[in-house]
Amino acid sequence: DHSGSDLARKNAAVKACELVEDGMAVGLGTGSTTAYAIRELGRRVDEGLDIVGVPTSYASEALAIECNIPLSTLAECPELDIDIDGADQVDSSLNVIKGGGAAHTKEKIVSCSSKMFAVVIDGNKLKDVLNRGVPIEVLPYARRLVEKKIAGLGGKCTVRTGSGKDGPTISDNGNFIMDCDFGVINKPAALAEALAQIPGLVEHGIFTNADFVYVGYEDRVERLERK
Ligand code: A5P
Repeated sequence: DHSGSDLARKNAAVKACELVEDGMAVGLGTGSTTAYAIRELGRRVDEGLDIVGVPTSYASEALAIECNIPLSTLAECPELDIDIDGADQVDSSLNVIKGGGAAHTKEKIVSCSSKMFAVVIDGNKLKDVLNRGVPIEVLPYARRLVEKKIAGLGGKCTVRTGSGKDGPTISDNGNFIMDCDFGVINKPAALAEALAQIPGLVEHGIFTNADFVYVGYEDRVERLERK
């Protein structure tokens, strides 16, 4: 149930925060699971933990400010020690789909700027094979071309709407978000490479760079490690 899932997410997030030590620059992901990590880091900063955070969205920036976490930017701090972020789905080889919160472009840049990337999820998100829609961020100018190229890859894409405005959802970077249904994704790395070739597709939500995945349950946390 929902409250159980919240506890599971919190457990995963708090456990992953044990990786964070004094002097580290920490990527702050986006979403409800990461929010627990940001609050936990804020609690430890209150107790004297010395870190800087680099947020991946306006939402995480605001929460980090509320939690008194000193902030930095990739311009100032181009190499991070660790990035903690949520995910929408994870497969048994630690391939990840992100972008349910439309933040995956900055999330990918931050995760790829980090020595270590830890993903935090509840157990419901762990699957044998990925089968969720893949979020993509698209320059509005390129929308039709991207739709055609996605269709060529066997996907069906829809422009995401909602977030309290009429028309397309607009990302923090001013672009459209589209959700692409590929059915079961048997070769995530190959699909990721194909998506990366599409002009005007700013970033896709397949991440193949997770080092650890902390899978939270109500009564425990399991840590999966990249082989
Ligand atoms: C943001 O765009 C996403 O990548 C989130 O990291 C992902 O959707 C996980 O969010 P929840 O922890 O809220 O499920």
